[in-house]
Amino acid sequence: MSAIRGKKKNISSWRLFDLNSLLSAFLAFCTLGLAGRVQTTRDDVRRFPDGFLFGTATASYQVEGGWDEDGKSENIWDYLTHTSPCTISDCSNGDIADDSYHLYKRDVEMMRELGLDFYRFSMSWSRLLPTGFPDQINEGGVNYYNNLINEMLKYNIQPMITLYHWDLPQRLQELGGWANPHVVDWFGDYARVAFEQFGDRVKYWMTINEPREVCDEGYGDVNLAPLLDSKGIGEYMCVKNLLVAHARAYHIYNDEYKSKYGGEVGIAFSARWYEPASDSEIDIQAAEDFTAFTWIKYVHPIYSETGDYPPIMKEKVAAKSAEQGFFRSRLPEFTQEEIEYVRGSSDFFGLNHYTTFLVYRNESIYDANPVPSLFDDADIGSYHHPDWEETASSWFKVVPWGFYKLLTSIRENYNNPPIFITENGFSNRGGLQDDDRVRFYRNYLSAMLDAMDEGSDVRAYAAWSLMDNFEWLSGYTERFGLYEVDYDCPERTRTPRKSAFVYKEIVRTRALDLDYEPDTDVMTIDEGH
Ligand SMILES: *[C@@H]1O[C@H](CO)[C@@H](O)[C@H](O)[C@H]1NC(C)=O
Repeated sequence: MSAIRGKKKNISSWRLFDLNSLLSAFLAFCTLGLAGRVQTTRDDVRRFPDGFLFGTATASYQVEGGWDEDGKSENIWDYLTHTSPCTISDCSNGDIADDSYHLYKRDVEMMRELGLDFYRFSMSWSRLLPTGFPDQINEGGVNYYNNLINEMLKYNIQPMITLYHWDLPQRLQELGGWANPHVVDWFGDYARVAFEQFGDRVKYWMTINEPREVCDEGYGDVNLAPLLDSKGIGEYMCVKNLLVAHARAYHIYNDEYKSKYGGEVGIAFSARWYEPASDSEIDIQAAEDFTAFTWIKYVHPIYSETGDYPPIMKEKVAAKSAEQGFFRSRLPEFTQEEIEYVRGSSDFFGLNHYTTFLVYRNESIYDANPVPSLFDDADIGSYHHPDWEETASSWFKVVPWGFYKLLTSIRENYNNPPIFITENGFSNRGGLQDDDRVRFYRNYLSAMLDAMDEGSDVRAYAAWSLMDNFEWLSGYTERFGLYEVDYDCPERTRTPRKSAFVYKEIVRTRALDLDYEPDTDVMTIDEGH
């Protein structure tokens, strides 16, 4: 305004004053007028609803280290990285990782710096139960999780615990892991021990992280431990057993602990958005089928009115199995009792989301997929649009509108369940000036708010991740952290990136200001945390 005033010196002062006050009165009116609407004072500042919760997430094997300390036994990631180190792209492992086993107080300090409402972390089964079974409850493990939980609660940060984030005790893998139907008992026993030890203080429980990755990538492919590559067979056994095991843990809590502790139990699905590659009916059907085969197969049994797998998937696998000479469907059926047991077994819809694929079906795919396999059963091909922004991860391109479409489809198809976004985040190769990550969070949170404006019941959001960590087969080559971790120094120094400052401001103001530029000099802990 002062620049304009200077230029218009020849205009009489009273007129200028008048114009300015008129203008500011008009602006004030606009501001007030807009404030009552869904979109707040300016188009580029949007508010989150009252009671919305912000957090970050990590997983035990990716951050803890202390792989054999105080009685912890070997899990499938210890086994894989020790027996076949260079299966990991930088030949690294999680022996030390972020050393959170020793540095948990610094982790909680970072949570306070960010002003988080909750922190989602996972429990290491082989740290709590070294034999895999409840005959030995490891005191070292109990102490570690008690220390972490109590340190968080001291500052009013709610723990949200994932019971299983991919690190099965190796001894249980040798007995077949998730392909053995007894895993339902094993997992239920483990869950009971965790509820018993920590349930008095932990109100949010998640049974299993990303069933699709556990079964499809670990049992049906070689992308995650235990690299079984049992396509079209082991991967489907895993699906059924995992769902019943999840339901077992849910019912144990619901029947025996819920009235006492009042917490909630859910599951964290991973869902990509599958967009038809063209307007053709065939591609539209292909996208629907791929959705059913990859993540609706876990959602439908829990969230639909009827329960059970999506009908299209049952039909297709049964038909292909018969054609291929199998005596029964390779997709193990649920009994009616199991259908009822699994249906409704979740207090909230946990959702991990990162990316979108284009899906098609034409001649080219029929010979391309191995037989049998999920891809052959589903008869689809998929790819990323070449124009979409890349990340450091090959499977991951940035598509914010896919998040909006995904949330909308869950609202419309599954009766608008309460959703916790249990993971969402961006990978690059590191560096503190992460404008790419800042842009990612702003665009994905905007897309989420678009869906919420239309009624999606999203109640919580966890950024993946609090800090860099061991990214599975990619080792430390892909960085997802709000805080950078220095793996060259034994102290595993954590330094906030620009995105940490931006996320902190979102949490503090409960709003998304697309123009906010942080001062990234000093990270402080605000009052109240
Ligand atoms: C099948 O569809 C894909 C994706 O649209 C396309 O790249 C490919 O050329 C098509 N192949 C045939 C044989 O039509």
